Amino acid sequence: MTETRKKITLPYLFKKVTEGQPISWLTCYDYPTAFLQEQAGVEMILVGDSLGMTMLGYDSTLPVTMDDMVRHAQAVRRGAPTAFVVGDMPYMTYQPSVETAIRNAGRFMAECGCDAIKLEGGASMADRIKGIVEAGIPAIGHLGLTPQSVSALGGFRVQGKSALLAKKIIDDAKALERAGAFAILLEMVPDRVCQLITERADGCIIMSLGSGPHAHGQLLIYHDMFGLYPKFKPKMAKVYGNAGEVILNGLKGYVTEVGNKQFPQPENWFGMSDDEYQELKQLLK
Ligand code: KIV
Repeated sequence: MTETRKKITLPYLFKKVTEGQPISWLTCYDYPTAFLQEQAGVEMILVGDSLGMTMLGYDSTLPVTMDDMVRHAQAVRRGAPTAFVVGDMPYMTYQPSVETAIRNAGRFMAECGCDAIKLEGGASMADRIKGIVEAGIPAIGHLGLTPQSVSALGGFRVQGKSALLAKKIIDDAKALERAGAFAILLEMVPDRVCQLITERADGCIIMSLGSGPHAHGQLLIYHDMFGLYPKFKPKMAKVYGNAGEVILNGLKGYVTEVGNKQFPQPENWFGMSDDEYQELKQLLK
């Protein structure tokens, strides 16, 4: 176990940017994984609505509710007390109005102890970001591939490949920055577009998910890093270990050992003294 580190704060994140030190960010949805991420020194944690797919088995993030998010964010906070924890606002918890957005963002702060929230969308969501920030809640924007709009975007694919669409993402980033977002996540945007946005950022931290090395930091989906999501592995994900395979082999071993009576062994059960056992048998007569 590493020694306890100081709480990761906004000034800490901005200091890293000033010093040209990339920030590490991972998704996380549960207590034991949060505990490991904290020990590993992960600086930011995203309790993403991707939990709808990775943890709950839905085909998209759309069915995820605010109550789902609150339950998981609370568990993550318990496991990672010093990480900068970001609550991801699920579908239709901010789109309807600024007031809805502020109320739900407030739940992440009050009920989960989050440090910030993230929401998807560009200039059309700038007033939501502004309202949330004016309510005293740090906010992160999310551009490029925004999974809540996957149907409108035509699938999980790179965004902003043409000059015209890239210009729109760059304009959206400025709109979010002006609305007060302290950070923007660029998901599956070409590296050059990410570089242009990072160079133009003014007091806004740019984070990359599959958008190249020029951002101020990197985000990965935890389940993709460890072979834990069975349905697909996105191209941008680097696999750091195949935990899925290790667990599957362990499970097969368990089924085999139960079947052939190799499990359990004496170290796996609890005994009773001879005296107590004899007394018990008398009692049962
Ligand atoms: O929900 C999530 O994990 C996200 C990432 C895909 C960026 O929003």
